[in-house]
Amino acid sequence: MLDYYSKGNPKDTLDLIVRMAYVAEIKEWDCRAHIERIRKYAYIIGNGAQIDRQTNEIISLATQLHDIGKSMMSDQLLREGGKYDDSERPLIERHTTDGAKILDGSASAIIQIGASIALTHHERWNGSGYPNHLKGEEIPLGGRICAIADVFDALATVRSYKQTISKEEALQLVLDSSGVLFDPTLVRAFKEQFTEIKKI
Ligand SMILES: [Fe+2]
Ligand SMILES: [Fe+2]
Repeated sequence: MLDYYSKGNPKDTLDLIVRMAYVAEIKEWDCRAHIERIRKYAYIIGNGAQIDRQTNEIISLATQLHDIGKSMMSDQLLREGGKYDDSERPLIERHTTDGAKILDGSASAIIQIGASIALTHHERWNGSGYPNHLKGEEIPLGGRICAIADVFDALATVRSYKQTISKEEALQLVLDSSGVLFDPTLVRAFKEQFTEIKKI
């Protein structure tokens, strides 16, 4: 199935990609399951939005690399988990540009898309995101898909520093942000596929 590489064993390469992604997650909250869920959500969203199968596979695999730039963030900042003051904000935001720097220039399609997702997964549909305040379809498709998957997972999962809400409540918050924070077409696909999403 995976002929994205001209050389080497694709399975080895994929395994390495997932382990690279895991480096960033270990530091933050040691949850390999988070990146696994992001990949599955992304695949379901892309499928629902009728993205062609190969592109959808590449994007969903690449979403696992979204926070790889966090491997360069200080442990102290990572542990603060969401409660940052204004002076810390630029240090948090640079996990996007750091991630792109780590992944840029690869010959692998997955890692190329991974670089774009790392850079753009905090951009928001209305231009309120970071680092480049991109708007609408200026945000690459992978970044737009990953944004929904990542926010939904953050809302619906228990982390040490916050309460969790139900998947239905998390869905409602995503729906409320359609056309504001997220691509409305992708939010529609997310809603239509919610039975599948809930199984994850
Ligand atoms: Fe991030
Ligand atoms: Fe994440």
